[in-house]
Amino acid sequence: MERIAGIDHIGIVVRDLDSTAKLYSALLGLEEFGREELAQQGVMVLGLRCGSQVVELLTPTRSDSGVARFLDSRGEGLHHVAYRVPDVAAELDRLRAQGAELVDDAPRRGFGGHLVAFVHPRSLSGVLTELVADSGGHP
Ligand code: CO
Repeated sequence: MERIAGIDHIGIVVRDLDSTAKLYSALLGLEEFGREELAQQGVMVLGLRCGSQVVELLTPTRSDSGVARFLDSRGEGLHHVAYRVPDVAAELDRLRAQGAELVDDAPRRGFGGHLVAFVHPRSLSGVLTELVADSGGHP
């Protein structure tokens, strides 16, 4: 079985969801399909459909969230790349066994209710990396 089924989505940190969604619709023709607050992460997520992938726009809901710190230190921009995998927990075990630094020790629920887990950018060339359970694509 292939370990990575494909790119699921990319995440972009922005200051304002509404104005950015309008911009991406006007310039790129990407349309919003939903939004959701992830309270634990202190983030509001807006999904833009992009073929069989998704662009996630992320904005902080608390000043102490990781996304707030990202925005403060680096400004708006690309935040993470998410790969679709058959089994998030098994992939975490494999990565841990290879010495990768994990942000999440176990899968948790992310945007759209998908099981997700993050790998620290230190272990993947400076890119915060998300694993998403392959559940047949996005709505
Ligand atoms: Co994501």
